[in-house]
Amino acid sequence: MTAPERGIPDNEEVAYLTPMQVEFQIFRQLPPAAPQMQTFHVEAEPGTTILDCLLEIKWQQDGSLAFRKNCRNTICGSCAMRINGRAALACQQHVGEELRDHQPITIAPLGNLPVVKDLIVDMTEFWQNLAQVDPYVSTQSRQIPEREFLQSPEERDQLGQAGNCILCGACYSDCNAREINPHFVGPHALAKANRLTSDSRDDQQVERLQQQDSLAGVWGCTRCLNCNAVCPMGVAPLDQITQIKQKILSSYGERSPLLAASRAIRHRKTLVELVRSGGWIDERRFGLQVVGHQGRDLAGLLSLAPLGLRMIRRGKFPFRFKASTGTSEVRRLIDAVRQQLHTQGNRETPVED
Ligand code: FES
Repeated sequence: MTAPERGIPDNEEVAYLTPMQVEFQIFRQLPPAAPQMQTFHVEAEPGTTILDCLLEIKWQQDGSLAFRKNCRNTICGSCAMRINGRAALACQQHVGEELRDHQPITIAPLGNLPVVKDLIVDMTEFWQNLAQVDPYVSTQSRQIPEREFLQSPEERDQLGQAGNCILCGACYSDCNAREINPHFVGPHALAKANRLTSDSRDDQQVERLQQQDSLAGVWGCTRCLNCNAVCPMGVAPLDQITQIKQKILSSYGERSPLLAASRAIRHRKTLVELVRSGGWIDERRFGLQVVGHQGRDLAGLLSLAPLGLRMIRRGKFPFRFKASTGTSEVRRLIDAVRQQLHTQGNRETPVED
């Protein structure tokens, strides 16, 4: 493909096609041996893909270099790896753009998954976590025999963004929540779950929402935004997770006992209420309301005791709470956001804001 075809002006075409020596530092490992970086040099043009450089290395310099690829065209998702420190598709990234911020170009395997060899990771856990959200239109729905599943264009439009996922693993690799919470199913699985909760053909939507109402599901997300930043297909997994949260909150209703029973939801609701009332968090009330569930969760209350005693012993227990000087401004901001979200018809958003 020529530079103009890629949207690059004619006068940049020559530079775009000018060959240069590019240095790569590539992670090599054959477990259980320790990993090490190996340096390679490739002659490439700025428009050459990282995958083409890796193929050049493998074919011309070191046939033992291991990595995955298939379509070479941003479709199959198999060439995902860490390029210059963040997950990306090797067939999508070009030498020129990678050299702009980083020299030499570093290549490493995806994170959060064990290495099999060099840039190849074992994705078993990734697929198992996807399977946990039952990523198909429900079996019961699929048993209707007489006619096709007809959908209106509007219903189909609901599925487009999450449907673009090619399951490359980039979001999973760079997910901070997955790194610290081994039960968290991962952004890829939750994006898929949201696609199904939006699918007019599925009849398990209530069950799907209940399944995601946990720390293994949407409440395990730390909202670091990494998944949105690295997703090569614009799926925006964090946005999908947020949509599930909104559906959960809407399905419970404001006065539902299920809403109050969820510690994750209490956490968010209490945090906003305390910040609104005092400008910052009164940690004593926060613990009692979120973990102790206002005295209704005895085990939760007792679990706070060791921390409370330690804090008292070290003189760090806040016996009095002093509201922040900016409380009224904070309150105005929260109320303004709530009002705007309410106007947009997002009536449960205050809990999740
Ligand atoms: Fe298929 Fe890169 S080789 S997405």
